[in-house]
Amino acid sequence: MQEMFSNIDLSRLPKHVAVIMDGNGRWAKERGEIRSLGHERGIPMVHDVSDIANKLGIKYLTLYAFSTENWNRPKFEVDMLMALIEATVEREIPFMLDNNMRMNVIGDMSRLPERTRKSLEKGMRVTAHCTGLVVNLAISYSSRWEIVEACRNIAIEVRDGKLKPEDINSDLFSAHLTTGGQPDPELLIRTAGDLRISNYLLWQIAYSELYFTPTYWPDFTPADFCEAIRVYQTRERRFGKTGDQIKEEKSQN
Ligand code: FPP
Repeated sequence: MQEMFSNIDLSRLPKHVAVIMDGNGRWAKERGEIRSLGHERGIPMVHDVSDIANKLGIKYLTLYAFSTENWNRPKFEVDMLMALIEATVEREIPFMLDNNMRMNVIGDMSRLPERTRKSLEKGMRVTAHCTGLVVNLAISYSSRWEIVEACRNIAIEVRDGKLKPEDINSDLFSAHLTTGGQPDPELLIRTAGDLRISNYLLWQIAYSELYFTPTYWPDFTPADFCEAIRVYQTRERRFGKTGDQIKEEKSQN
């Protein structure tokens, strides 16, 4: 563990890391197995990556577990994923409680089968007091869905006289997203080699560093997670300013 941390500057960790866990299907196919086996084999990585993020002291980890678009997959695969999510949540609750980790779900929970929704609601309820890592599970989630929901909710508040159109700004909009109150991810990791964002946290990743790795999710280890953070720490984040301005600011701090 210590060795893994040795390449990382613990004083400059991202507060929020988002992950697109991709490649489960390809991992299974390459082994002549059905896609669902790949999902099953991806579960220990959810556990291990959450564990290492918590041990590092990262405050938020957002995992893309099931997108709005994933509802279009074959029914067998969708049913299996829902059952897997439900079983994983039940199994992970004691571990999360022992390690002070909080479960949070972002996404349209109204579309979930009742059993899956109930287990996620239980996970959120019983870990609500935990103050360590917040694990945001993006389930039945898409960024466009979330942005439209935020717009609708803001419109309702304006209609009801709780908000004036002049009050609408970037901070207020952020607060109406499912990640309201959380810092934006400084780092987005996508496994399995595809170079796209797939309708994930589009507003929140405006200034995120992007890290793509060819490794399939079932092969992604805590050491790979630490490597992504090490690479993140080599990037200069300028937020639209010049490199010289950033150096100047650093020398003043
Ligand atoms: C993408 O691989 C992965 C998914 C659609 C599901 C990921 C879900 C899990 C690992 C389970 C999560 C469970 C909890 C409780 C967080 P893919 O099927 O798109 O792979 P492919 O691109 O190779 O086809």
